[in-house]
Amino acid sequence: MKHWRIEDVAWDRFDPARADPDLVPLVKAAAMVERNGTDYAIYLNRVFADDPDFRRAADMWAAEEVQHGDALGRWAMLADPAWDYTAAFARYKAGFRLPLDALASVRGSRTGELIARCMVETGTSSYYTALAEATQEPVLKQICKNIAADEFRHFKLFYDHMRRYLARENIGLLRRLRIAAGRIGESEDDELAYAWHCGNEPEAQAYERTRCTAAYMGRAMAFYRFRHIERGMGMIFKSVGLAPRGRLSDLSARGAWRLLQWRRRRFAQRLAA
Ligand SMILES: [Fe+2]
Ligand SMILES: [Fe+2]
Repeated sequence: MKHWRIEDVAWDRFDPARADPDLVPLVKAAAMVERNGTDYAIYLNRVFADDPDFRRAADMWAAEEVQHGDALGRWAMLADPAWDYTAAFARYKAGFRLPLDALASVRGSRTGELIARCMVETGTSSYYTALAEATQEPVLKQICKNIAADEFRHFKLFYDHMRRYLARENIGLLRRLRIAAGRIGESEDDELAYAWHCGNEPEAQAYERTRCTAAYMGRAMAFYRFRHIERGMGMIFKSVGLAPRGRLSDLSARGAWRLLQWRRRRFAQRLAA
């Protein structure tokens, strides 16, 4: 059972005057990536072929991700009635492919796959928390709160399964750290950048990863506050098996916060150029 339904959102409370124009294009791009959850479930079902418990959980997870896309897409169409969610997603799906024919995890092990999933859910739960706190538009606030709560449960789900596989596969700390860092670095790959393109740029304009990454990340990073990074760092630490609270986690959160500010300025410069 899903924890909330799209019909439960108070859509009639939508207030166009409070829809921050900086947020609308971010919501459009996020809707694409979320809606693509079904493809990721196909991949997970192949990687965990002999684990029916996990496969059931993955299918349920994907249904929730799709609902995230549908809710964000519906909100974006309220904010911008000229925008077509279905058409934008069709474009995204035609141009962005996950490794659906993989028979094993692209992360080298099932533990690695689940650590990578934990990184994604850490990112999304922090992101939607930041958006929920930043927006004054009541419908988007409600949607982002609902989504952030789902993403945190998803983190917990993948974390619990990861612990189960870790006991069996026994992957060392360094390798776990490498997998986690690698997945975080991929936030500047095509998945998000291409979603920005399909959600916000006309078909006649050629896709360019550097430009689209700067456009998406530069805007998205503006909504984070230190507390979001601090909490996210605790989740990353927990995922790789380090103490989520303590000096090392603290120092890393401060470092990540500084890096985020620096990246944000760089993206802004790149966009201006
Ligand atoms: Fe999601
Ligand atoms: Fe999620």
